[in-house]
Amino acid sequence: MALKSDKHAVIWTRTKDGPLKMADIVVTPKQTRFSYTRDFIAYDADYGKRFLAGGVSLLAPPHIYKTEQITYQAKDSIPLYPRLMSMLPARNENNIQRRLYTRILEKSAVPPAPGLDTDWEILLLSAHNGIGHLDVFRDDLVAEHYYNDPAQRHLLTSRSAYWKQIQAEIQNTVYDIDESELLDAFGPTPSVGGMIPKILVSIPDTDNWQGEFASPGTREVDGVPYVDVILKIEPMGYEGVLALEALCLDLHRQLGFEVPAFWLSRIDGMRVLAIRRFDRSEEGYPIPMESFFSVFAIGDRYFQSNADTDLEQMAYRIARLGKVANLDVRATQQEIYRRLLVALFTGNGDLHLENLSFLGGSEQVRLAPVYDPAPMRAWSRHNTRFAIPLIFDDELGGLRENMLRLGEAYQFSRRQAENLLEEVAAQTADYLEQVVALEAVPQQNKDLLIETLEKERKILMKEK
Ligand SMILES: Nc1ncnc2c1ncn2[C@@H]1O[C@H](COP(=O)(O)OP(=O)(O)OP(=O)(O)O)[C@@H](O)[C@H]1O
Ligand SMILES: [Mg+2]
Repeated sequence: MALKSDKHAVIWTRTKDGPLKMADIVVTPKQTRFSYTRDFIAYDADYGKRFLAGGVSLLAPPHIYKTEQITYQAKDSIPLYPRLMSMLPARNENNIQRRLYTRILEKSAVPPAPGLDTDWEILLLSAHNGIGHLDVFRDDLVAEHYYNDPAQRHLLTSRSAYWKQIQAEIQNTVYDIDESELLDAFGPTPSVGGMIPKILVSIPDTDNWQGEFASPGTREVDGVPYVDVILKIEPMGYEGVLALEALCLDLHRQLGFEVPAFWLSRIDGMRVLAIRRFDRSEEGYPIPMESFFSVFAIGDRYFQSNADTDLEQMAYRIARLGKVANLDVRATQQEIYRRLLVALFTGNGDLHLENLSFLGGSEQVRLAPVYDPAPMRAWSRHNTRFAIPLIFDDELGGLRENMLRLGEAYQFSRRQAENLLEEVAAQTADYLEQVVALEAVPQQNKDLLIETLEKERKILMKEK
């Protein structure tokens, strides 16, 4: 039964051999349905392993589904296929991109109704050349036009209307852009999720970056090589957050984690942090990237939000993924457990299911490198220990005992977990001194982080 409100779209991806249509998709208020194209199935069969190709989700592998239709039943909190949901700019009024896209849509001839209709239009406006390898368009003509007309991909500089508008939004000033200009500036620009304002650009791959940037995908300007980055811009109310994130990225690197290159700088008086994208190959081709949120929500019909799982279950969900995707389950679990320990000792209470992702297609997939390790516990409204709950067994003891027990789910023996905990404690021993030394961070945030972490350390170490 075709409802009047059925929505149609197509998904394409960019391969070494050019743009390729992947799937046709239909969304109704009750479900999302899609099926792969024959061309894509053939391509995936040939190149799936070599080029990290991948389907719409790790749980929808093209070599298994072939042209069979894949159906997802809508839920109140996740009305669209979760993989598409996580391509939408976050639903909070502070999200600059959502605000701007909504403004563009309000001015259109037939503004969409709030809710799913608006989300859908935002997806069609913004979900191409973003994070990962999926490009969503209204139809094939729009897709072909987008790939064939480079002007569509927009030229970004610090003088462009796009940048001036972002700057105005962040500084809470008015930039007098008219509506058609707004669409020109933002229409072809991909959006990124998350709370901190950010844009996708490319910057010179040099040690002393001066804040220049260009459109994503730019490989070179005047002989200088450029790299694709996520550019985070420090918003009001979160002074110092980028300096703290940079400190934690650096710490993770020292502890042997895989961490992307990053650059701290200023542009037009605003503090920025550029982080090299790991969802692009050396040559600039997209690599599939899917968040834990998307994988868990697709794989579990009862799943509604971050709070519908806990840290122990998360380990088992990863093990289940290993049954359908070529994933080193043990290595993935162990790495996550180590990240959880570092999060505890650094005050990153924000390790939620969009801050963990898989990289690659189902035939060759691994955990994405560390990203977004900012110690959000320095802000009282984010001061929680873990975004994903750790279920306590009170009979077992306190945080230390429960954390060590959690290690079993992540394939560490108690002894190994204990050693790891001690190791991370030692490796983060001078972390708070480094926080104190950061000039960009307001005193009250330093104080809160110090107070919180000194207590945590005591609880974590006391039962020795
Ligand atoms: N280096 C990277 N390469 C590729 N994708 C990335 C990278 N860093 C972040 N992302 C993607 O961009 C999204 C937003 O980035 P990030 O999590 O750093 O932002 P945030 O605003 O701090 O998020 P939050 O709302 O969790 O605080 C991530 O969820 C992830 O999908
Ligand atoms: Mg994040």
